[in-house]
Amino acid sequence: MQKLELTWIGKGDEPVVEPRILLHDASKDYGDPAADNMLIHGDNLLALKALEQEFAGQVKCIYIDPPYNTGSAFEYYDDNLEHSLWLNLMRPRLIILRNLLSEDGCIWISIDDTEQAYLKVICDEIFGRNNFVQTISNQSTPNGRDYGSFAQTHDFIHIFSKNIRQLKMNKMANDDINKYNKEDEEGAYYLHPLFNSNSNFHKGNRPNLYYPFYVSKKQNNEGYYDLSLIPTEDCVELYPPLSQTDGTQFVWRWGKEKATQYLNKEIVGQLMRNGEFRIAQKMRVKDKIPRTIWVETEFSNRRGTEESQALFAKKKFPYPKPEPLIERILTLGSNPGDLVLDSFLGSGTTSAVAHKMGRRYIGIELGEHCYTHCLPRLKAVVDGEQGGISKTQNWQGGGGFKFYELAPTLIVKDAHGQPIINNKYNAQMLVAAIAKLNGYDYAPDADVFWKQGKSQAGSFIFVTTEYLTAAQLDNISRYLPEYERLLICTPAFDIGLGKRYENINIRKIPQSVLDKCAYGADNYNLNIVNPPELDEDEWEDGEDA
Ligand SMILES: C[S@@+](CC[C@H](N)C(=O)[O-])C[C@H]1O[C@@H](n2cnc3c(N)ncnc32)[C@H](O)[C@@H]1O
Repeated sequence: MQKLELTWIGKGDEPVVEPRILLHDASKDYGDPAADNMLIHGDNLLALKALEQEFAGQVKCIYIDPPYNTGSAFEYYDDNLEHSLWLNLMRPRLIILRNLLSEDGCIWISIDDTEQAYLKVICDEIFGRNNFVQTISNQSTPNGRDYGSFAQTHDFIHIFSKNIRQLKMNKMANDDINKYNKEDEEGAYYLHPLFNSNSNFHKGNRPNLYYPFYVSKKQNNEGYYDLSLIPTEDCVELYPPLSQTDGTQFVWRWGKEKATQYLNKEIVGQLMRNGEFRIAQKMRVKDKIPRTIWVETEFSNRRGTEESQALFAKKKFPYPKPEPLIERILTLGSNPGDLVLDSFLGSGTTSAVAHKMGRRYIGIELGEHCYTHCLPRLKAVVDGEQGGISKTQNWQGGGGFKFYELAPTLIVKDAHGQPIINNKYNAQMLVAAIAKLNGYDYAPDADVFWKQGKSQAGSFIFVTTEYLTAAQLDNISRYLPEYERLLICTPAFDIGLGKRYENINIRKIPQSVLDKCAYGADNYNLNIVNPPELDEDEWEDGEDA
């Protein structure tokens, strides 16, 4: 059937990516050993594939800030990819990112106008057009740059959900929280006069909003003065005031019916310093729905660069996102304890913010700056670093993270061009890799040596580099109940073993895994080169002065 789609050179020719195992480098872990936060060094297509089996459906909020494909070379990465190449870079990653999202999760993608329209269309294809949530315009460069026809002052953030019906997006905390300076059993509030100070509404056109309150002269327990809509003993009659500028007779904001309902609960009589009474409404804290244009100065590139300068001095990262921007995204898209993922981690902003906000996180970065920026930054966060959003989050330090590298490819060619198991794999790595390739989770049983992993369906896997004899198989079978299933992967075995037991399947390695995926690619990041270093002052060019 014909369908609406975007096509480009190479679309659909994506390689079947090898599901590598992740190698834990405990020497780079930091902080609480019980923390399960992950920092991964390596190409994100391979890393996402490595995570897919274990984390599918578990990530609540993904934020990515991929190279914008603007054609300018940066110090740490090159985003000068051709149009099709860029789309080829993004599509397979977005497909896995979608698989990782939980049903109620969402993905946020920063992008500028070079690719935003194309990105929106491929996201429509991958996530489904119904699952599009919003595109935010973020004022990233408030002053723009004076060249060309227009000074670009904003970039975009596309938001897609995994399943729009299950999406749970938070509201924003009210930004002016300090003015809610009073409290009762219903919560915080501030007092605001009940009359409407807009002179378009007056006694002439809103007669129903012009009526008197009767205020008791006796102070109540709350420190206010009881109100009534009928005269009471020893009371003061109070109508809305006259405008002091043009003499308009103001009216109340509430009609009599609503006033009766909330009398002395949400509207109270208040004695002012000048000895006069006024009717005031308790204004309650209301969560705010986010607007689609974000102009906060702390969301600008300049703010990101300043933060990076404070963290890394001369090694500041080019065009990092500012922590408050990511804080806004994680506030809306996740809750404490949720898993947050960024697979284009850059200088580590998303992980740092997630850490300070009590989210769990996975960060993936290919460049050397994974070691020179992300690692030291996250260590500083664990130690209580006080930049970025630390003050607003009251961040005091704590927690921890673990560090991972991608394992090398499992299959290499020998001197005769024949595929063999990579000799960089030890026995444990081999078991984990073969288990993964066959869809099993690596989980060695403490008591039964041949139960090395388990599939979702509950069957077991045993990987051995030894020849498998009939006697060994019979021995294993004796301890395998009929209702359990076992897959054995071995380089060779006695003739006829494959059919000896109903519930035991035997496959040869490496032969049985050769067709599963493309081996040998260490990097699907097209065209990463060492571009010329930025001029010391160039980073400031065009930013808000
Ligand atoms: C625009 S930067 C992200 C900046 C980040 N938001 C921050 O605040 O620091 C994009 C990052 O994606 C990384 N990247 C590009 N291709 C990648 C790949 N294939 N795998 C992992 N990271 C990649 C680049 O090295 C770069 O650090």
